[in-house]
This record gives sequence, structure tokens and C-alpha cells, in this order.
Amino acid sequence: MKKRVAIFISGGGSNMVRLVEDMADPDHPATPVLVLANDADAGGLAKAADMGVPTAVVDHRPFKGDRRSFEDAIQSELDKVQPDLLCLAGFMRVLTEGFVAPWDGRMLNIHPSLLPKYKGLHTHARALEAGDHEHGCTVHLVTPALDDGPILGQARVPVQPGDTADTLAARVLEQEHRLYPAVLRRFAAGETAPLYL
Ligand code: GAR
Repeated sequence: MKKRVAIFISGGGSNMVRLVEDMADPDHPATPVLVLANDADAGGLAKAADMGVPTAVVDHRPFKGDRRSFEDAIQSELDKVQPDLLCLAGFMRVLTEGFVAPWDGRMLNIHPSLLPKYKGLHTHARALEAGDHEHGCTVHLVTPALDDGPILGQARVPVQPGDTADTLAARVLEQEHRLYPAVLRRFAAGETAPLYL
């Protein structure tokens, strides 16, 4: 039985697209059942619909800081499709312990840094400011602490002379597109040993 996957996005959803494309393989151990965004303008929603994946929007703004109600609304959408796994893919809202704890061990996130370095935002600029020679991305299990949790995979990217945050971000994103599908495929098949690309 394939694992049912819900993918959370906030924007363009390029990582989501790669995950869905990979799951189109009949031999893939997972299948996408929902793409959920916290913004009706998220560009990834139309891409998901084009690929035949059901979509839902839970706009965080009407909840005005009432994270519990926001998360209850998300959980209601999930209850309709009964996913086994959640993949955060450029989802830019922090989820609290009340939401995260019941999904312990079943929620993945991709973060654009070599964790534990550069949790949070502006990861590419921070790597450049630090003078790092390499940067990259990490897929990890989500725990209540931000950008924490056991690492499931990492891909490294050399920093090149003249890199800006944008050029570095673009090269990291290419690696995200390799890493996340590879990790999800393994994870859905029960493999939790980290993958290093
Ligand atoms: C990706 O680089 C992802 O790693 C990052 O947002 C981008 C989303 O791109 N996520 C975070 O910063 C999470 N805090 P996408 O919408 O094209 O997949």
C-alpha cells in the first residue's frame, strides 16, 4: 500500500512539483493526496492542480496570531484525505508543538542550509557573510524546535567566488530538487538512514 502524502507550500512550489513528479512513478512507495497552501496566491497551487493533485488553502491571516485555530483548520483539511506523511516544501509558517507532536516521525521538511547551520531565514546571505566554502540543503524530520530534528539527507554546494545570495540560492535549489525526492522515496519505503548527495 502506497503511503499517502500531503505537501505544504507557501509559494512557487518547485520542490513540491519535483516530489509529485517523482511519485508519478508506479513503483514509488508514496502517492500525493493533497497540496495545501497558507496563501491562495501561492503559485504552486495551479501547478498541483495541473498535475491532478487536490489542493486546499488555509489562509493564516484571518487567524491573526491564533496559531491553534490555524493549525486546527489545517488538521481538518488533512482529516479529509488521511495522509500518512506530511512534506513541508517551502512552507513559511512555524507550526507549534500542538500540531507537530501528533505527526512525530511522519513530517519532513526541506531547509536551505547544511543544518545545524543557519536555522531560520536568509540562509544564503548568512553562509556568504560567514565566508563558508560550502553550503547546501537538508531534509529532516520536523520536531517542535525550528529547523531541528533528525537529518534524513543533505546535499552540498560549493560556494563560488562572486556568488551572491541569489546565485547561491539558485544552485542550492537545484540540489533541493535532487535531494527531496530521493529522501522521500527512501523514507516512504522505511529507510531513515541519512542520504548524503
Ligand atoms: C526552498 O529553497 C526551500 O528550501 C525554502 O524555501 C524555498 C521554497 O522554494 N524553505 C525555507 O526557507 C523553509 N524555511 P519552492 O517553493 O520553489 O519549493
